[in-house]
Amino acid sequence: MCGIVAYVGTKEAYPIIIKGLKRLEYRGYDSAGVALIRNNELQSFKKQGKVSNLEEFASDADTSGSIGIGHTRWATHGAPNDTNAHPHGSESGDIAIIHNGIIENYDSIKQELLRKGYTFKSDTDTEVLCYLIEDIQKNTGVKLGESVRLALQQVHGAYAIVVMSKNEPDKLIAARKSSPLVVGIGHDGDFYLASDATPIVEYTKKVVYMEDEEIALLRPGEDMKLYSIDDVEKTPYVQELEMNLEVLEKGGYDHFMLKEIHEQPRSIEDCFRGRLNATDAWVSLGGIKDYEQKMMNANRIIMVACGTSWHACLVGEYLFEDLARINVEVEYASEFRYRNPIIDENDIVIAVSQSGETADTLAALELAKSKGATILGVCNVVGSSISRITDAGSYTHAGPEIGVASTKAFTAQVTVLTLMALSLAKKKGTVSDSKFRNLISELEAIPAKVQRVLEKNSKIEYISEQYKDADNALYLGRGSSFPVALEGALKLKEISYIHAEGYPAAEMKHGPIALIDEAMPVFVIATKGTSYEKVVSNIQEVKARKGKIIAIVTEGDEQVTAIADHVIEIPETDEHLVPLLATIPLQLLSYHIAVMRECNVDQPRNLAKSVTVE
Ligand code: M6R
Repeated sequence: MCGIVAYVGTKEAYPIIIKGLKRLEYRGYDSAGVALIRNNELQSFKKQGKVSNLEEFASDADTSGSIGIGHTRWATHGAPNDTNAHPHGSESGDIAIIHNGIIENYDSIKQELLRKGYTFKSDTDTEVLCYLIEDIQKNTGVKLGESVRLALQQVHGAYAIVVMSKNEPDKLIAARKSSPLVVGIGHDGDFYLASDATPIVEYTKKVVYMEDEEIALLRPGEDMKLYSIDDVEKTPYVQELEMNLEVLEKGGYDHFMLKEIHEQPRSIEDCFRGRLNATDAWVSLGGIKDYEQKMMNANRIIMVACGTSWHACLVGEYLFEDLARINVEVEYASEFRYRNPIIDENDIVIAVSQSGETADTLAALELAKSKGATILGVCNVVGSSISRITDAGSYTHAGPEIGVASTKAFTAQVTVLTLMALSLAKKKGTVSDSKFRNLISELEAIPAKVQRVLEKNSKIEYISEQYKDADNALYLGRGSSFPVALEGALKLKEISYIHAEGYPAAEMKHGPIALIDEAMPVFVIATKGTSYEKVVSNIQEVKARKGKIIAIVTEGDEQVTAIADHVIEIPETDEHLVPLLATIPLQLLSYHIAVMRECNVDQPRNLAKSVTVE
């Protein structure tokens, strides 16, 4: 979490930083701040809340200067207030720092500095690092870059930092470990720094993704200098960005989330483009091709993820087991990593992550790797940490997802896992040729069917109006619709703050049924398929207790339509692909309810898009 942006060059730094922070606000919005150097003076502006608060606060100030650093915070150490906002200064005020990550041993460093007589202004771990840098400079007389390097040698934890000093006003020092940091190489000898490439793409497409324990020294008009933390000079690997500016804008929609929901016909198609062919009956995921034999021979495949990506894994489990007959276990990354799991070189661990930066998922992979397992990734963000540490993987190609609530990333993850399951099934011979061809044709038809679901938006908005004041909601599904129910519940709670729970439909009678009364909306995925009749019985059980049923049904359904309070029809498809369609109305329902409750849809309270802390 936390977004960092910095600039050094000949342009005005402040507007570049503010614009960049707005692009990174999805990473946290507890506070925002900017520090600038002008005429050898360092000046900071910090404010609790969103970047717009900071802008208003600094609106009458002189914000000129061509070197600066900025930060948007998701609080870890210390309350979200003005004092704890970044940038943080050193004791003399000569040095300023921005930081994304956690300094785990900050307390012992702080105690040492307190013993030396320093006094601190904030409760943050970051300020301690800034003081340490200054203390090293005082004691050794070294320049800023070297003092940062020496300080980082004492630090345990995760960091992406940018540091500047009014005593060396023409340079930025940047470093990373476990938290992402990208350097943009400008056309005029200038440099941009950010947590991801979105604040940079507008100015340059030449970027360097910094690696763990690298330190960069950036001076306008000079080449970027890169060192390891052990002071070995390295050659920066410059890459060309493929991202366009247009995909980062709202494109006429009121919210990024709505835009991203509506992008799904295209994002699903982008995900499978060039990876399947129904006529010639093949599926091919280039990224994992060399690992497919190993996947087929593996004792089991373990999928690790968090949040929505974990739900995608649960759908993946159904697909891998049913189609490819491979044993799959799905684990919360945060639990897996601390459980001393039994893993060896015959296991395959697949991490699924939109951002590719989720700290727990990353750590779970590192653990699996240390035990000899093959580690694979399914990520959306190209060049992300997970995509770089894995042995191989497949990108989801959903494009940047800005709304904190994950929508198009989920359907793209499910699409990639479907392709993987199909490819393995074909190679193992666990599906017949006709079934295989049929599934591919059905998958190719999904984008158009998603479009048809999106066209039901007005009806979904009407239904949302009926339930916008609910305090609780239940989501039920069976088979691969159970993870869809979990995902529907997560969407509702995270953006509208309504308490919601997802359950396997048959589990309802083991407890949650006690909650049902006339005020309880129950969203049920009741599409045609293996468990249809069973789900109809579960719906009857809810109706008998006066609960309200909102059912997602297959077009033309009569049985559920006759008993439900509301139905939303989705086009018929193969049962394995139902999650790709059934998810869409649940996303729209949550969206509309959140808008009607006047919630901040794209940036829900307490959340951040990229959870880079444990
Ligand atoms: O970037 P990741 O997919 O690893 O993120 C995992 C979760 O933090 C994420 O899915 C979260 O649950 C979303 N806010 C859900 O909408």
